Amino acid sequence: MSTTSDTAASARRKILVTSALPYANGAIHLGHMVEHIQTDIWVRFQKMRGHQCLYVCADDAHGTPIMLRAEREGITPEELIARVKQEHEADFAGFDIGFDNYHSTHSEENRELAESIYLKLKEAGHIAVRTIRQAYDPVKNMFLPDRFLKGECPRCGARDQYGDNCEVCGATYSTAELKNAVSVVSGATPIEKESEHYFFKLPGFEAMLRAWTRGGHLQPEVANKLDEWFEAGLQEWDISRDAPYFGFRIPGTDDKYFYVWLDAPMGYFASFKNLCAKRDDLDFDDFLGPDSDAELYHFIGKDIIYFHALFWPAILHGAGLRTPTAIYAHGFLTVNGQKMSKSRGTFINARAYLDHLDPQYLRYYFAAKLTSRIDDLDLSFDDFINRVNSDLVGKVVNIASRCAGYISKKCDGQLSAGCSEPELYRRFVAAGEQIAGLYEQREFSHAMREIMALADIANQYIDEQKPWVLAKSEDTAQQARDVYSTGINLFRVLMTWLKPVLPKMAGEVQDFLNIGSMDWHDCDQPLTNHRIDTFKPLMTRVEQDRIDAMLEQTRSELAEHAAAEAPMETTEPGPLQADPIGETISFDDFAKVDLRIARIEKAEHVEGAKKLLRLTLDLGGETRNVFAGIKSAYAPEDLEGKLTVMVANLAPRKMRFGVSEGMVLAAGPGGEDLWILHPDEGAQPGMRVK
Ligand code: MSP
Ligand code: ZN
Repeated sequence: MSTTSDTAASARRKILVTSALPYANGAIHLGHMVEHIQTDIWVRFQKMRGHQCLYVCADDAHGTPIMLRAEREGITPEELIARVKQEHEADFAGFDIGFDNYHSTHSEENRELAESIYLKLKEAGHIAVRTIRQAYDPVKNMFLPDRFLKGECPRCGARDQYGDNCEVCGATYSTAELKNAVSVVSGATPIEKESEHYFFKLPGFEAMLRAWTRGGHLQPEVANKLDEWFEAGLQEWDISRDAPYFGFRIPGTDDKYFYVWLDAPMGYFASFKNLCAKRDDLDFDDFLGPDSDAELYHFIGKDIIYFHALFWPAILHGAGLRTPTAIYAHGFLTVNGQKMSKSRGTFINARAYLDHLDPQYLRYYFAAKLTSRIDDLDLSFDDFINRVNSDLVGKVVNIASRCAGYISKKCDGQLSAGCSEPELYRRFVAAGEQIAGLYEQREFSHAMREIMALADIANQYIDEQKPWVLAKSEDTAQQARDVYSTGINLFRVLMTWLKPVLPKMAGEVQDFLNIGSMDWHDCDQPLTNHRIDTFKPLMTRVEQDRIDAMLEQTRSELAEHAAAEAPMETTEPGPLQADPIGETISFDDFAKVDLRIARIEKAEHVEGAKKLLRLTLDLGGETRNVFAGIKSAYAPEDLEGKLTVMVANLAPRKMRFGVSEGMVLAAGPGGEDLWILHPDEGAQPGMRVK
């Protein structure tokens, strides 16, 4: 489905494209990369076709998790988001994602946009104000978003469930119904408190939205999903949050902030505005003004359709702005057939991948799996190795490597004066229109199949002609040269079709072939009487041990994270993502840590604590009282009499349940997989651990 068709004859289109804005409180992982690789391929394709296509993105920098994470790290939110933005940009650059601009939602452009759009909505009567009751943390003095409350499911009684839904039985409920609720932030029992909130009156847009969602702007399965939401009835949307909050203050209030999801999509526009300020040739209104004739596409994951297909067009419409041309949603990445998971060690960060593997493998692999639909897509490592090695190395690169040597060595790099197989060449060029159509429709998987089928034909042609035999006799040497020249020319066509997927390799091929550009129609005519450069290997095979090393790194990062932070905290670890290893400490800092063997004399449940056990530790004469968040892994009776390793010189900390005089060390991803015990052999309580 597309509202605009791309034909060779069509005029130069103006296209603005976005990927969803990654949250600034976590690292980029391979799930994000599905989206960014999909978008980047599409954008590069449009650019190759000669259209004016711009690709903007930004970090989504607002919200409670970011505020709390900065607090935990002892830095300001501004410092946190600046650091994370650098990391995100480096990760994306590592995968050759070619943004025209990468900005932040915490920017002046976005503040202006959010304020002015809000004021327009307010003026037009689309904002309601009313008082609501909400869970409040009396220790932290803050209102608690649903995800920051945990308790027992009112339906099935499962423990440890978030404020609004149960992962065990699937029930959804209001936070008031949650039993024995505690604040994830402080462990305190929440109270209910009243506060005035601002609402966007979404129900008033039902007619507009019903028409819009059936207007060719959405994939059919997404439009069907929206029908379910219309059936359920549109609700007013709470767009305000109380202080303390990291975001933009709502004009006309002292302590109300825009909810992160209000200003997040505006971040698309803010990033483009920021780009326009850097470039004389771009005009904001030309693309995003009310009368713009430019196309606007948002690539997103299926989990955020509600925000993009309902709230966002309604807000734009309500504020008198243009709406998107289309929303393109994709499915979720699974690894070896299962949801990416921290405990299985398949939650792979972009950086861990880049430390071990060529980004082009993943770009091709995702391209080979992506369609225009919202099905999930699986990264299976056996399949990954197989596809990359057999398609890219075995088929495509192989054509060049078998043809280049002869041309370089025997022909001084000079290709034949004429094309010996005009029919075959024309067939390859003609396939370009079908392949372009597939790219345009985001049917990348199909496009890759077509390209690989052509690669098979090229290899077959060379096999049949046996140029290495022809090369042996002087009489047929010219024929050999013709076959090899044709092979090189076919390779050039294939690399042109693959350039959106493999821009780096295409750049190297451009150097190798000595050609100035590699746009879609540059290969309409073959290279004849043309001198090529010496061939350098373009890609090596994926090896299993590289994948093992990446998975090993992922596991140890996740384990370190779990040990370093989550379980030893006063209460729950909090719904924050695993983060990369933070700032380093000096050796001197490390040397200050006094690690000792301790015998667990007593282990007991702690009244009212869901994760903690109270440990009485014998340090060889001295006893210590320590609270440890290891209840998910050990029953008290499993621990008594055993040895563990503790930080003996940690300053005592007052906790809700008493004073903790040290900390025990644990390893493992968490839950049941958590280890604190030290083997008995030769260890005595009180011994130093080196
Ligand atoms: N900040 C919001 C988006 C705001 S857009 C105005 C957000 N951020 S996110 O970091 O959680 O996700 C960013 C994008 O990555 C989303 O489109 C999301 O669907 C996508 N993905 C996150 N995990 C994913 C997978 N495992 N697989 C595929 N895409 C996934 O949502
Ligand atoms: Zn339940």
